[in-house]
Amino acid sequence: MCGIVGVLGKHQAAPILVEALKRLEYRGYDSAGIATVNNGTLERRRAVGKLVHLSDLLVHEPLAGKSGIGHTRWATHGAPSTKNAHPHQAGPVAVVHNGIVENFKELRDKLAKLGLYHETETDTETVALLAQHYLSQGDSPRLAAQKTVGCLEGAFALAFLFHGEEDLMIAARKGSPLAIGHGDGEMYVGSDAIALAPLTDRISYMDEGDFAVLTRESLEITDKNGKLVNREIRKIAFDSARVDKAGYKHFMAKEIAEQPSVLTNTLRNYISADDKNIELPSNNINLAKIERLTIVACGTAFYAALTAKYWFEKIVRIPVEVDVASEFRYREPPVTPGTTAIFVSQSGETADTLAALRYMALKGATVLSVVNVPESSIARESDLVLPSYAGIEIGVASTKAFTAQLTVLALLAVKTAHAKGVINDIQYQEYITDLNCIPRLISQALSIDVAVQKVAQKLATAQDIIFLGRGSMYPLAMEGALKLKEISYIHAEGYPSGELKHGPIALIDKKVPVVVLAPMDALFEKSVSNMQEVMARAGKVLLLSCQQGLNAASDGTWATISMPAAPELITPIIYAVPAQLLAYYTAVAKGTDADQPRNLAKSVTVE
Ligand code: F6R
Repeated sequence: MCGIVGVLGKHQAAPILVEALKRLEYRGYDSAGIATVNNGTLERRRAVGKLVHLSDLLVHEPLAGKSGIGHTRWATHGAPSTKNAHPHQAGPVAVVHNGIVENFKELRDKLAKLGLYHETETDTETVALLAQHYLSQGDSPRLAAQKTVGCLEGAFALAFLFHGEEDLMIAARKGSPLAIGHGDGEMYVGSDAIALAPLTDRISYMDEGDFAVLTRESLEITDKNGKLVNREIRKIAFDSARVDKAGYKHFMAKEIAEQPSVLTNTLRNYISADDKNIELPSNNINLAKIERLTIVACGTAFYAALTAKYWFEKIVRIPVEVDVASEFRYREPPVTPGTTAIFVSQSGETADTLAALRYMALKGATVLSVVNVPESSIARESDLVLPSYAGIEIGVASTKAFTAQLTVLALLAVKTAHAKGVINDIQYQEYITDLNCIPRLISQALSIDVAVQKVAQKLATAQDIIFLGRGSMYPLAMEGALKLKEISYIHAEGYPSGELKHGPIALIDKKVPVVVLAPMDALFEKSVSNMQEVMARAGKVLLLSCQQGLNAASDGTWATISMPAAPELITPIIYAVPAQLLAYYTAVAKGTDADQPRNLAKSVTVE
C-alpha cells in the first residue's frame, strides 16, 4: 500500500531512489515519483502508471541532487494521475506518504481559511500544506514537521524534504512501517528493509509514534512521548533481501516453483533434527490449556486460517472460529478469559488484521501470529510469533507464503493435539512423518505444469469459472478462485461442492468450466456425486484427483489433472499447487500481468 524511500547520500539520488522503488513496487504501482534537493532547490518528477514510466521520464528530464525522497503509489484518495502522484510539494517542502490521513477534510478546510488551497484530491497534499504553513510562521523544518505530524489522525509513514536543506530529512511513523538504513556517511529511510538492502545491511525499525531527524552523519529519534530514544541497529542478511526472478518470467512463477525448498526450510525450523518433535519458539503459552481458538486474517491468509479450522477441529478437537479481519472487530465479539487468537499474515502489516489483533490483545486474549515478515507490526505485538519462513514474496498474488502459512498451522495443530493428549505418541510421530512429506509431494505436484498450461489455454477464454471442494478442499476452492480472479481478471467463485445445488448450480451451462478438487478421501464419493450434478447440466468439469480417483471418476469430464496421492493432513497444502498454477498459466495465456495485477497492492496497510 504505497512504498516510500529517502536518501541522504554521497552520490546522485535519482538512480538510487528509482532502484529502491523497484524493490517496493509490489506495494503499489498506480504512479511513481521522486523529489531531490539540488543546490538548495527542491524539484520533482512524477509519472502515472508503473515505475518504468518514471524511469523513462528521468531519461528526458533528469533530476540532479544527492538528497531525495521517492514514492510508489496505490491510490486511496484521488485517481491515479500525475497530479495526484507523490511526492507532494507545497512551497519549500515535499512529502511522501504511506497510509491515510483520516482527518484530511477537516484540515483541508482549516488550510483553505488560511489561504492555502489544495491542487490535488489527495490526503497527502494536506501534510505538505500544513508543513508549509508552519514554515511560513517561522518554524524550523523540524518544528514544522513535528507540528504537522501532531495534527494528523490516521495511519502514516512520512518522509519530508526541504528547500535549502541538503543534509536534512525528517521521517515519522504511526501505523505504517518505516525502516532507517545506516550507511557510511549516508542515511536512508524505506518502507521496508528490502528497499534498502543493496544500500546497507544496517537497519533500525521505527516504533509506533517515532519521529526521526536524519542527517548524513546523525540520527535523532523521539518516541510518541517526545523522549529521545535509541532504536537498535540490526544487521539484515542481504541474501534474505535478494529480489530477482532467477530466470523465471514472473516472480509468481519463481515463487510457486521454490515451494519445495521453502517448505523444507519451514519444516526444518519447527521439526527437531531427529524428526521426533515439533518445537515452537520458546514461550509461556501452555498449548494444553487452549480450549478454543479464534483465527483472523484477510484474503489468502484467511483461506489458510479456514483450512486450519479443519485441522484444529478434527485433530485437536477444539472449536475454532475464523473470521475476515475487516469484519471481525466491528462486531465487537465478546472475549472470554482464556481465549487464544491467531492472526495470519504474510506481510504482518495488514491494517485490518493488525487492528483485530489489537482489539483481542486489549480484551486480554493470548495473541499468536503466523507471519512471514518477522520485524512486522503484527509480529512485534504478538505474545508468540510463529514465523512462516517463506522468504521475501514479491508476486502480488500470494503463493509460497500461503503454503508456508498452512504448514505452520498444521504443525501447530499437531503440536497442540499432542500437548493436550488428544493424540498419542504414535499418532504424533505419524503426523510428523506426513508433514515431512510436504516438500517431496509438492515437487511431484509441480510436475503437472505442462498439463495445467494446456488446460489454461482453454480456461483463458471463459468468462466465469467455478471451483468446488469439500472439507478442507473448500477453502482451497475459494483460494483457487481468488488467485484466478486476481491475476487473470476472470470471474471465479469457490463453493463447497455440496452447496452448489442450493443455488449456484443455476449458473452452470456449457460455457462454465467447473474445477473440482477431489482427493481420494472419505468425501470423495460425495464430491463425485456433486460433479455428476454439474455434468448432467452440461457443465465442463476439470477434475483434479490422484490417479486412483481419476480412474474411478473421470468419465464424462472435460479435462483431468493427475495429482500425487497424499496423506489427508497435508492434502490441502499439496492441492494449493494446481490452484496456483491454473491461475498463473491462465493469466499468462491472457497476457495479463501476473506479478502486478491491476488495482492491487501486496501489503494492504489501509482499512
Ligand atoms: C491474495 C493475497 C491477499 C493477501 C491479503 C492479506 O493472493 O495475497 O489476499 O493474502 O491481502 O495479506 P497479508 O497476508 O500480508 O496479511
